[in-house]
Amino acid sequence: MCGLQGRNLSTVSGADSFQAGGQGFRFNFDYAADRYDRWYETPHGAAYDRSEKTAIDKLISDHTEGKRLLEVGCGTGHWSKFFSTRGCEVIGIDISERMVTIAKSKNIVRSSFHVMDGHSMPFADKSFDIAAAITTLEFTADPEAMIAEMARCVRKSGGELLFGVLNALSEYNQKRKNEAGSPYASANLFSPEQLRELLEPMGQMQMIIAGFVPRHGWLLALTPVFELVGRLVNNRHGAFIAARVQL
Ligand SMILES: C[S@@+](CC[C@H](N)C(=O)[O-])C[C@H]1O[C@@H](n2cnc3c(N)ncnc32)[C@H](O)[C@@H]1O
Repeated sequence: MCGLQGRNLSTVSGADSFQAGGQGFRFNFDYAADRYDRWYETPHGAAYDRSEKTAIDKLISDHTEGKRLLEVGCGTGHWSKFFSTRGCEVIGIDISERMVTIAKSKNIVRSSFHVMDGHSMPFADKSFDIAAAITTLEFTADPEAMIAEMARCVRKSGGELLFGVLNALSEYNQKRKNEAGSPYASANLFSPEQLRELLEPMGQMQMIIAGFVPRHGWLLALTPVFELVGRLVNNRHGAFIAARVQL
């Protein structure tokens, strides 16, 4: 993703994978960690991944070399690798032990990973240049508190917050949300307006809607055309919303 959109995490049974919020998360990703990266190996997963990376790449500042980046909800390190490739020093944190174990096993350069709740982190105020959360807000107990905590950790002049979220307006995401027992069932999806409301008061905000991936496999090669048309006609229903706030 990310996005988990279309990610074929098989349905998890057992109430202990879900938490109503008291534990800091809405779904315990320990239960999905070992299957998580398989999605990127599928043709649809790879197409979504390209679309989402292109959107975030357009938003992130041009000069990331040597910047300290805090990644909240780093999961298996899929996006940590992307940020590291851009020259960032990545400190990835996640509440799921198993996700962090997998991220560590990848030996991503310029990166370290820690088990931690993103609502309350032991980092000094303004100690990062960038804080990012890609498809994390939807799965956390209190997204507003998490955003405030990320902002606390980032320097105020020129620091940036980056987000990727699953769009509540996307038909595809809505369908996934109705799959009882899947991680999506627990997700608190955001519409572009809801995300704007949360982020606009924090600073200068930019948003890109992406994830216009055709459903039929034989059309996948045309994804860049779907993306272009989606953006040109200002379609608000793409599966992924990328947002950046400059503090
Ligand atoms: C859908 S996964 C996204 C992982 C990764 N960002 C990606 O896109 O591949 C959501 C992640 O958020 C993490 N998460 C949920 N609540 C959290 C919290 N309160 N603090 C830290 N991580 C949290 C989950 O454990 C999970 O790894």
